[in-house]
Amino acid sequence: MTGAPPGDPHGGQPPIEALASACGACRRCGLADSRQQVVVGRGNPAARLLLVGEAPGAEEEACGQPFVGRSGRLLEAMLAAAGLNSERDLYIANVIKCRPPGNRKPSRAEIEACRPWLEEQIALVRPQLVLLVGATALEALLGIRGGITQLRGQWLQLEASPGPDQPAPSQASKHQRRPSKRVQGQRTPSPRSPIRWPDPGEGGIALMPLLHPSYLLRHPSEAEGSPRWLTRADLVAVRQRLGV
Ligand code: URA
Repeated sequence: MTGAPPGDPHGGQPPIEALASACGACRRCGLADSRQQVVVGRGNPAARLLLVGEAPGAEEEACGQPFVGRSGRLLEAMLAAAGLNSERDLYIANVIKCRPPGNRKPSRAEIEACRPWLEEQIALVRPQLVLLVGATALEALLGIRGGITQLRGQWLQLEASPGPDQPAPSQASKHQRRPSKRVQGQRTPSPRSPIRWPDPGEGGIALMPLLHPSYLLRHPSEAEGSPRWLTRADLVAVRQRLGV
């Protein structure tokens, strides 16, 4: 006997842990053959802020937690300097859950294969604010290719809107109609999110692209206007918007 209540689909596990267990058995792409273990997420799944990076590296794969290697230590230090506590204020995940061999960039097919896990994570966390850390997260979550250095630090607003492929409201019941999500307040032409987002609700979902810490490791200057200086300012803006 597990002691799980009758009808509990997760066998008594918190949903985010059940997701991690299910993800551990995933064989949706070839990375399943080379991985030591999946790296699903860490932090507070009840937080209003979700941070999404690219993919686990060697240290992340070894301990099963995202952003714990060199990039992660820099990220932690910058979050803390901005007044954000990664255990309390945010949940941290990656676009893909397995380490690509040699730390190469994940392929389109790998990102696509892993997308249902990310969608499930987003549905469980239901964030109000999302940090897109690096170009891979920007493309995987918003369909925007390139331009992270221009877009970093800007709040992009995800609003529900009926898309051209949607049935007209009069033809569809409330339950049949699934609104596509449009990104407001940004200059890139007609971006559409490849991700199925939970209903953004009245407040919408605000997303901010950030420079990836691996880029910041290659650009160590802290001078005013440098990538690190800009990222520190971006994280302060995040903390202010979160109101912690
Ligand atoms: N880089 C990422 O994007 N994610 C990690 O978890 C580690 C390094």
